[in-house]
Amino acid sequence: MSEELLWIEKYRPKTLDEIVNQEDIIRSLKRLIEEKNMPHLLFTGPPGVGKTATALAFVRELYGEEWRNNVLELNASDERGIDTIREKIRERFAKTLPLGDIPFKIVILDESDAMTSEAQTALRRIMEIYARNIRFILTCNYSNRIIEPIQSRTVVLRFLPLEKEHVIKRLNYIANNEKVKIDEQALETIFDLSNGDLRRAINLLQSASLFGEVTSEVVYKVAGAVKPREVKAIFDSLIKGNFESARDAVLKMLFNDGISGTEIIYYLYREVYRLNVPDECKLNLIEVLGEYEYRILEGSSEEIQLNSMLAKMQLILKNYSK
Ligand SMILES: Nc1ncnc2c1ncn2[C@@H]1O[C@H](COP(=O)(O)OP(=O)(O)O)[C@@H](O)[C@H]1O
Ligand SMILES: [Mg+2]
Repeated sequence: MSEELLWIEKYRPKTLDEIVNQEDIIRSLKRLIEEKNMPHLLFTGPPGVGKTATALAFVRELYGEEWRNNVLELNASDERGIDTIREKIRERFAKTLPLGDIPFKIVILDESDAMTSEAQTALRRIMEIYARNIRFILTCNYSNRIIEPIQSRTVVLRFLPLEKEHVIKRLNYIANNEKVKIDEQALETIFDLSNGDLRRAINLLQSASLFGEVTSEVVYKVAGAVKPREVKAIFDSLIKGNFESARDAVLKMLFNDGISGTEIIYYLYREVYRLNVPDECKLNLIEVLGEYEYRILEGSSEEIQLNSMLAKMQLILKNYSK
């Protein structure tokens, strides 16, 4: 698919005013634009909440038409190591003076928490060497993976997960514009499956639209997600003592639907909270889920571990139903 055809690109906000749900951050950035000055910035927050879009809208508004000549956009997880980053900065920026009336250029380094701490230490040095004429905007999902010397040299802006009304409003807007029919329930399902990640939500909408009218069913299908109903059925079987039916359902997810063991555990974990059992029973179940997630991550056979986990959960549920 070419970039134009991807809705996340087509509907990427072009201005700061189009960024939703991050009002405090947008206000601070607008102030920096007025002052034509800025410290290094660190944008942190979950995926798909507008960090990259905000960085790009910011530099556009700061430099106007000339923005491309003043901005170097790098992705820390694509670029091969800090040497490439250093080279690119030197090539593009170090020699030429900034254009226009703003005395610095900007390097946007996306997903900087993908860098090793050695690379970050080298980055910090680059930041110091060019401190006079280059400002950095770093983005990351986890600010605690950024070394302290960088954190202390940047102003940290924390992006919030998007609220439901914003996600649904945006999806509706795109669906209208693309002449896609979608019902209310499908919109809710997309929101549930995307957890405030608008990139994922828009991608789900686009994939689902390939099947014609977008319904909840289709969304689950393209997401490769398990329906809450199927997960609940597993617990119902265990509560009734019907181990085989619970096991068959789990193995179907694992082998037919291609859902990984840890994902299955995550779905069960979410369902535990909705079960109609005493809190103590829920705690015991969660402890078991945590233990088996760990075992699977350590590399034990998914099938055997999931079976053993179901057996253990059935025993717990039996104890509490007496
Ligand atoms: N706060 C937001 N306001 C408007 N659109 C958003 C917002 N967050 C995400 N989006 C949409 O989701 C896509 C991905 O956003 P992006 O800025 O790349 O997320 P991040 O960098 O936080 O992972 C954008 O192209 C845009 O269409
Ligand atoms: Mg990003």
